[in-house]
Amino acid sequence: MRIVPKAAAMQKLARHWKRAGVKIGLVPTMGYLHAGHLSLVREARQRVGKTGKVVVSIYVNPTQFAPTEDLANYPRDLERDLKMCHAEGADVVFMPGDAEMYPGKAEGKYSTYVVEENLGRGMEGAARPVHFRGVTTVVAKLFNLVLPDVSVFGQKDFQQAAIIRRMVGDLNFPVQIIVAPTRREADGLAMSSRNKYLDAEQRAQAVILFHALQAAKKAAAKKTVRAARLKKDLQEFITAAPLARLDYVEFFDPETLQPVAQVKRGTHMALAVFFSKTRLIDNAQI
Ligand code: PAF
Repeated sequence: MRIVPKAAAMQKLARHWKRAGVKIGLVPTMGYLHAGHLSLVREARQRVGKTGKVVVSIYVNPTQFAPTEDLANYPRDLERDLKMCHAEGADVVFMPGDAEMYPGKAEGKYSTYVVEENLGRGMEGAARPVHFRGVTTVVAKLFNLVLPDVSVFGQKDFQQAAIIRRMVGDLNFPVQIIVAPTRREADGLAMSSRNKYLDAEQRAQAVILFHALQAAKKAAAKKTVRAARLKKDLQEFITAAPLARLDYVEFFDPETLQPVAQVKRGTHMALAVFFSKTRLIDNAQI
């Protein structure tokens, strides 16, 4: 497994592979890997085959964090990440620093961003105003540096995946976007690097996100339910976990991400819940 810290070296290697007709799969991550990430690496391998190359990028992207968010404390364990990538059979770990990804930014000389203007307005976009601009920018840059044929993202970040798909379509990136299922802990909590922030009591209560999704599915399984009614019920449901503070719960069309008034089969649901400063998200189709 090769470790590539330089953007130019990554692009040179990718161009070399391209000329040789080698398929490239990219798994973009911010590190602190868990079994969910590894399932994305496996998916990438399946897509490009034995003769293809799988690149895992590890970069905690500062532009997707607001100044009030957890950039400085975002969990990092590079040594462990590299071992995991190696064990999973990744060919390259691309791990650039800020000066590689945003050249000149420290001197005020970086000024180009990619903005998706529709799907990113609600939910995570409303709660975290700079977030998706940072995500689309860094993913576009990763696509230009790694030149992937296929790139794999997790379903846990449903809105992110929809925005990246839209960006790829709108800007004609020749990349196939694959969205792989959310991996869960035994009790149902979605795997996330941020779960590490939870203390034992918060961790035990964090399963409320999964239970809320299940409760909504049950409520709308056989009949159409008013979204406003269900939101109110879920708000109450979540108070069963006293350490949880609901940020939002939304019911929406999975294609347009527009909120719906009536919840029925096929409607998508997403929610964000704080445990102290730790913000967890999850989503599911009803
Ligand atoms: O989902 C993530 O980990 C990040 O948002 C991504 C896609 C790697 C961009 O920094």
